[in-house]
Amino acid sequence: LRTLFVFSEMVPYSKTGGLADVGGALPLALRQLGAEVRVLVPYYGCPATGDMRWCCAVNVPYTGETAELWSPVGEAQILFLRYPAYYERDGGPYQDTQGEDWPDNDRRFALLNRVAVEIAQGRVSGLNWRPDIVHANDWQTGLIPYLLDLEARIGAARPAVLFTIHNLAYQGRFAPGAMAPLHLPAADFHWLGTELYGAFSFMKAGLAYSDQITTVSPTYAEEIQSSAFGMGLDGLLQTRSEHLSGILNGIDAIHWNPGADPYLPAHYSLQDRLGKAQCKAQLQSSLGLRPDPHVFLLGMISRLVEQKGTDMVLDILPDLLRRGMQVVVLGSGDKSFERQLLEMAAAHPTQMVARITFDEGLSHRIEAGADAFLMPSRFEPCGLNQMYSLRYGTLPIVHRTGGLADTVTDADDFRHPLQRNGFVFDRPHSDALHDAVLRAEALFRQPALWSHLQDQAMAGDYSWQHSARAYLQLYHEVLARRAGGH
Ligand code: ADP
Ligand code: GLC
Repeated sequence: LRTLFVFSEMVPYSKTGGLADVGGALPLALRQLGAEVRVLVPYYGCPATGDMRWCCAVNVPYTGETAELWSPVGEAQILFLRYPAYYERDGGPYQDTQGEDWPDNDRRFALLNRVAVEIAQGRVSGLNWRPDIVHANDWQTGLIPYLLDLEARIGAARPAVLFTIHNLAYQGRFAPGAMAPLHLPAADFHWLGTELYGAFSFMKAGLAYSDQITTVSPTYAEEIQSSAFGMGLDGLLQTRSEHLSGILNGIDAIHWNPGADPYLPAHYSLQDRLGKAQCKAQLQSSLGLRPDPHVFLLGMISRLVEQKGTDMVLDILPDLLRRGMQVVVLGSGDKSFERQLLEMAAAHPTQMVARITFDEGLSHRIEAGADAFLMPSRFEPCGLNQMYSLRYGTLPIVHRTGGLADTVTDADDFRHPLQRNGFVFDRPHSDALHDAVLRAEALFRQPALWSHLQDQAMAGDYSWQHSARAYLQLYHEVLARRAGGH
């Protein structure tokens, strides 16, 4: 089975969030199951050109753009889409250095989608390869199902196409007038096509024209069919519910392993957690927090946006600090959240640290050194940090939503005693979060119980194998369904 993955970011080359982690891990896990996989991703400047090999040129229909495909040395399965004017800029994959969306995001990602379709249709000479299935991810790849539908309308055979929603909140919305310059027929601008509340939406196109839709947890797959979580797309998702399912993400178990993590000052395992105490002591001393093994230390690593409940954390911080807890926050995002966190930290230098940056090493040291992890997201399609936390014996405190609900079981859930591994609250409100944090601290004061929960957290299987098998099975189902003509 041949699969072409298309991502807009992928570790270790580019990353703004969990999407990149999936891009780096899922294709690999599928390859280990015997699938023949290629990944198409824009080249934003990493790795250095000396570490890549030119593969071939791609002439893009209609727009006349000529792009290039390059691969990292020794990794021909990764196809970097190179078009310097679009992707090799100062700033991020989607935004400039000021945090503003690039004004030409429609053209930038349309190019990625067009090139994916050229590969999918076997028209890239020099590649000699055609997939059975194209696996697109998030709005940046949403035109792929639509462009493949246009191919089928003129009688061309096309591969099957699966579209995965990683976050429905980012919909790739543009003015309706953006369709014409992209050479897309205006007749498809309607509610079962590319139109979303008067805008032209890449996400909508992906959902409307794919053979199968998945999202990254079973609970989120249900939630997005309701108006509370559907972001205006719940109606369409309900009509497609027969072909919509949720498959939980895994984590990269080699990169996130407390037993061998190169970023940590000491290592530890389920059997021997001594090293975790050293990680806590080192985290405290390196950040200027009062070194004390008995103080309850909370960690948070997050995009600082409303989705992640940053405002709820800000609401309860004064009380947590008054009670003597320590808090370490790593993240960036909304400027007002950043400023408030920095102010709070400046006022409590031995108790709170806010690092407004992206720091891979520190993120590992927080996961290892904290006692508990804050993740009060209002919605969370899957979430990776709660799984890293579980693996590191750092008990997550989460809102019962999406992938958080599917991975964390509350310490008081006596219906599932063997799965209890954290703290879960039901309403996305500061007071509910506050209660959960106090419950967690109370249990932290009972070391035998706390240690039992840590055991259960660390014993869980969060690897990709299970999810990769589920995707493979779904690919086969979709292919069989298409072969059967329905
Ligand atoms: P999302 O993709 O919605 O941001 P996830 O939990 O799926 O949320 O993934 C976030 C990923 O980004 C995790 O791998 C997390 O460790 C990482 N991350 C987020 N912010 C930072 C940061 N400031 N420094 C280092 N890693 C970060
Ligand atoms: C998105 C979601 C996050 C998920 C990640 C990877 O960024 O917000 O919940 O874990 O994608 O699928």
